[in-house]
Amino acid sequence: MERNELCWCGSGKKYKKCHMAIDDKILLLTIQGHITPDRELLKTPAQIEEIKKSAALNTAVLDHVAAHIHAGMSTADIDKLVYDFTTAHGGIPAPLGYEGFPKSVCTSLNNEVCHGIPDENIILQEGDIINVDVSTILNGYYSDASRMFAIGEISERAKRLLKVTEECVERGLAAAKPWGHLGDIADAINSHAQANGYSVVEDIGGHGIGLEFHEEPFVSYVTPKGTEMVLVPGMMFTIEPMINEGSPDFFVDEDNGWTVYTEDDGLSAQIEYMVLVTETGVEVLTK
Ligand code: MF3
Ligand code: CO
Repeated sequence: MERNELCWCGSGKKYKKCHMAIDDKILLLTIQGHITPDRELLKTPAQIEEIKKSAALNTAVLDHVAAHIHAGMSTADIDKLVYDFTTAHGGIPAPLGYEGFPKSVCTSLNNEVCHGIPDENIILQEGDIINVDVSTILNGYYSDASRMFAIGEISERAKRLLKVTEECVERGLAAAKPWGHLGDIADAINSHAQANGYSVVEDIGGHGIGLEFHEEPFVSYVTPKGTEMVLVPGMMFTIEPMINEGSPDFFVDEDNGWTVYTEDDGLSAQIEYMVLVTETGVEVLTK
């Protein structure tokens, strides 16, 4: 595109005052052999504004769950909280019907790594740890985040896992820098997990998000520093490592085709932030 034309992103600015420098930098890095994002992975200002509204609703849904989660309720009750609150605010729960997923939210308990299906027969017990993974569509725009909840008093062992998992995500976030690499985030997470005797699940990871539920790139949390896709302003993706107490190995429930369990039956925890890369840093949109 010519320097004095209006920028492709719709900002209304001239290309030379908007994305020209970013595009030039991407081109150079591509020539140097780095993995760089295609233009469609860079959200425009108008898209960012809309996606932020979806993300704000997503956070409100998680806050609503946080205010009501308690021992004695079923994971189907959590599903109802999510469905009712989301739809009352004009949103649609993204998991519902996604590739056949039957419910509005993923609820993964104790030895479940992710993608647990809410069920009226699964009752929260004192001492449980549970990941509630909420994803929202608002006006066609997607957002995604998850939190861990401790049900009543939990074991020291579970407390340590939750603490380290949060530290892992925060360290990953701190390592995320414009023009850095996805592997910088992964390395920060993986090394902290390992330093604490834990492991990071491979093969299941994060993803680009915003215009779709799951966009490019796939985000691994076990890759080395300085590898994988370059982080370019406008990119949006999730930081959502799954941290296992024991082995990183897992298996998928044969009956429901979704729920992922630890192979060794150890505890697993996950926290998910959805982030936007900016020119100066990384902004958390929902967590
Ligand atoms: N929120 C999950 C993620 O982070 C979505 C899993 S797909 C579902 O990618 F259908 F199970 F919701
Ligand atoms: Co996600």
